[in-house]
Formats: sequence, C-alpha cells, structure tokens
Amino acid sequence: AEKTIILAFESSCDETSVAVIEDGTKILSNIVATQIASHQRFGGVVPEVASRHHIEQITSCIEDALTTAGVTYDELTAVAVTYGPGLVGSLLIGLMAAKTVAWAHHLPLIPVNHMTGHIYAARFAGEFNYPQMALLVSGGHTELVYMPAPHEYQIIGETRDDAAGEAYDKIGRVMGIAYPAGKAVDELAAQGQDVFNFPRAMENEDNFDFSFSGLKSAFINTVHNADQRGETLNRADLAASFQQSVVDVLVHKTMRALAQYPVKQLVLAGGVAANRGLRTALTEQLATQQPEVNLLLAPLKLCGDNAAMIGAAGYINYQFGDRAAWDLNAQPGLSL
Ligand code: KG4
Ligand code: ZN
Repeated sequence: AEKTIILAFESSCDETSVAVIEDGTKILSNIVATQIASHQRFGGVVPEVASRHHIEQITSCIEDALTTAGVTYDELTAVAVTYGPGLVGSLLIGLMAAKTVAWAHHLPLIPVNHMTGHIYAARFAGEFNYPQMALLVSGGHTELVYMPAPHEYQIIGETRDDAAGEAYDKIGRVMGIAYPAGKAVDELAAQGQDVFNFPRAMENEDNFDFSFSGLKSAFINTVHNADQRGETLNRADLAASFQQSVVDVLVHKTMRALAQYPVKQLVLAGGVAANRGLRTALTEQLATQQPEVNLLLAPLKLCGDNAAMIGAAGYINYQFGDRAAWDLNAQPGLSL
C-alpha cells in the first residue's frame, strides 16, 4: 500500500516545530526550535515574543524537516496542524504556514487538538489498546481522559485551578529556578526527602479532579516564613516534598479512575510525564494495584511540545476523515 506521509506543525506555545511522519508512527524528522532562552528573563512565556519567534523560525523549520526526512512536497499525503489550545498569536503562525503549504501543494489540511497530540506521543512507545485511560499532565492542563475507542476522548477529571506543570514552574520561581522549572525541580527532588509533608489536595474526595494551588500556597508560605526567621531550608527537601505531594495526588486519582473505568492500558503523557518521580511511582503503583493494566509512557524526548506527536494524532484524524476548511481558525480554549 501507498505510504501516508504527513507534514505536521506545532506552534501552540514556545516551541516552533515541524515534523515528517510516515504511517503515523515512523518519525522521518522532528525539528523543534525552542524559544525558552528568550522567555527566561521574564519568568514565563510572553505571548508577543513567542509569536515573533514563531514567524522567524517557521520557514527554516519546514525546510529542515523536509531535508532531514529526505522528502519532497510531492511525496506528502497531508498537512496536520495544531489549532488549539494555546496562545492565539502562536497558534496562528503554525496555522498560516500549514494552510499555505497545503493550499500550494493541493494537500488536505488536518486539524489537530494539541492535547490529543500529547496523548499520541505515547504511540511512539507502543500500540494503543482500547479502552484506555490517559493521564495528561502539561504546563497548561492536568486531565484524566477516558478513551473507549480510537478517536474518542472523554475528560473524566481535571484540575480546578493550576495545572501540574504550572505549579512546578511557580514554586521553581520562588526557589530562583529559571522557567520552565519542572526538570530542575525533578532533579533536585531526587536528592531530598519529603520532610515538609505538604497538603495532598482532594486526594480523598470521591471524584477525578485535581487542585494544585493550595500546595503552591503552602510551599510559598513555608519558604517565606523561614525567610522571616532568617532560616534557610534545604532546597532538595523542599523540592522532594513538593514533588511527593504532586505525585501522590496524581497517582492516587489515577488509581481511583482505573477502579471505576476498566481499561486495558494507561497512557502517561504531557510535559510533566517526563517527571522521573511520577514515572516511577505510576509504574510501581500500577504493578501492585492494577497489574492487568498495561502502562504506556510517552518517550522522554517526546513529552514536551513537538510536531511528531501532532503528526501521529493527525494520522488518526486523517483516517477518521477529519478535514479542515481554509478558514480554520485558532481556538485558544479548545478542549478535548
Ligand atoms: O506539555 P508541555 O511541554 O507544554 C504545554 O503544553 O504546557 O509542558 C511543559 C511543562 C512545564 O510546566 C515544565 O516545567 C513541565 O512541563 N516539565 C516537568 C518536567 N519536564 C517538564 N515537570 C516536572 N518534571 C519534569 N521532569
Ligand atoms: Zn503541550
């Protein structure tokens, strides 16, 4: 059979990325131009700065993606693009570039929800097995997603305030760690102990929702109170205590969801899925509590934003007949 070759675009936040994906799971190229250095001095992503970087990077990303893959425009089957959720100005650059390529080369345009992209990053680690559950943890979202069948997504629980990654970035800022702080806090946590015993919000409530703003406040209060007493707290212990609280709640709520929704597989995806504490705890708890459920972890290198995952999600959308019109607009608040 003919190969399906998708040129995929991702520009929802602070990474400009273009990838070439063959038959949904083979990465021919995955170019990621990060802007993190430009946002660090502001302590977070500045939307106008992000848009300008996307404009500057997108053309060379397309050229790099095609050259690295050894693929010409003629060999492409379709173009896939993230149209939400994300920053509107950032999304628009990827959309404009994707539409231009699709229109000029008479290719179908496939709309992709960024969050389905994160889930499909795990597809590079193995097959999907339905029904399955996904724990989606990123900088903007924390969701439990039930997938009864391919191309079907039901959010059964989500955060009521901060996302898990957002909490990492905020407490990281208090500790003087550059944005995005998740990876550095994770590494620091590995050297400390949970001595502060921060709150585990909503852990025992009978739902699948999360809340991380109380934990963030407890963390900030602990640091400020110590400052006022002229004390310096152990940074590794602070990080370990924060991380243990996040991981406990994420794992506990996921186990609760699995008890109510019988599934064959659990997928862990999103930027925070790179967290080592979370990967280890989920692996151990699943093995003891739900040994019949298979765990599929998104590959470490594909947890963060990238276009390869958009190509994988775009492939399933393509098979299901999803096609966008030329007036496809950015949807900053798009949900699953
Ligand atoms: O999915 P992602 O790349 O972007 C969004 O769509 O939001 O997620 C980025 C988030 C940031 O908040 C970053 O601090 C966090 O993922 N992150 C981590 C780790 N690596 C990245 N959080 C905890 N532990 C990590 N190892
Ligand atoms: Zn993301």
